[in-house]
Amino acid sequence: MNRILKHIPVMQKEIIHSLKIKKNGIYIDSTFGMGGHTKAILKELGKDGKLYAIDKDPIAYSLGKNIQDSRFHIINQNFSKLLDYAKNKKIIGKVDGIIFDLGVSSIQLDNHNRGFSFKKDGPLDMRMNPQSGISAADWLFSSSTQEIAHVLKKFGEERFSKKIAYAIKYFSNIKKITNTLELSNIIKQAIPIKNIFKHPARRSFQAIRIYINQELEEIKIALDSTLKILKPGGRISIISFHSLEDRIVKQFIINNSRSAMIPYGMPITEKQIKKLKICELKMIDRISPSKYEINYNPRARSSILRIAEKKNQYENSTL
Ligand SMILES: C[S@@+](CC[C@H](N)C(=O)[O-])C[C@H]1O[C@@H](n2cnc3c(N)ncnc32)[C@H](O)[C@@H]1O
Repeated sequence: MNRILKHIPVMQKEIIHSLKIKKNGIYIDSTFGMGGHTKAILKELGKDGKLYAIDKDPIAYSLGKNIQDSRFHIINQNFSKLLDYAKNKKIIGKVDGIIFDLGVSSIQLDNHNRGFSFKKDGPLDMRMNPQSGISAADWLFSSSTQEIAHVLKKFGEERFSKKIAYAIKYFSNIKKITNTLELSNIIKQAIPIKNIFKHPARRSFQAIRIYINQELEEIKIALDSTLKILKPGGRISIISFHSLEDRIVKQFIINNSRSAMIPYGMPITEKQIKKLKICELKMIDRISPSKYEINYNPRARSSILRIAEKKNQYENSTL
């Protein structure tokens, strides 16, 4: 890295407000990044509060390890392992708030050596944890045209997915694509209709990144685990950056806010009622960034913050 990379935390004020932080509460930052949200939470916590953090990126983790604060602990892990972390720390059912600020951080996007950028040249990697899994270059080289087209369509909603996949495989047969700008130029040439407001490689890069890092699977597993980790009244606040992420978050909150409906007069025993799915969450809010924030930090443009709260026993006793 030849210059200082900076990540401006998205909707920081809103995240802090959403958590209703208690001085002695227990919180989890599932996406530490450069620690913007973590530092803001630590400021609000008293001396008996606790903040646990996770990031799969080794650079983000090493930044977290530099925080000298006995109230803070971080691990270098996928957030799909949140439940194991909470078990290990004996905080199951005790956590007051969990945050997710999904996607990539500026240290990943702006560092051309990480291979996330379609505008800057670098090795075609795209792994948030470069020590695990397969790089984008290796995946493109070893996959069929159909597999690539499927990923571009599913995770990038790219309407020219087939044309792009054919072009990628055509060039791969001549020479393995190893650099971001090589890939970006191949995509640019393959797309017949250009949108002057959006870079032609944006959707494909997003799709390959999501696939390589198994991002959507990770989110589903992690969100499910929060139901066990949160205590009644505890909150979950999630910032997403594109419709595929937001759809999962929204569906998770809706599915867990709905209780099973039992038609009046239905012959059903108390034991059977206990087995029915009880709604565990209540939806609190959905917030978009202010115009001022978008002007100051254009990366916030597409973000959506959704907030939900785990119900207490009393709120669940309506069955
Ligand atoms: C948008 S950044 C978070 C920025 C952070 N809130 C801040 O204020 O600096 C997202 C971070 O989440 C991490 N991340 C994304 N998916 C992850 C996963 N499945 N498991 C663990 N960390 C993940 C990325 O490595 C990245 O550092």
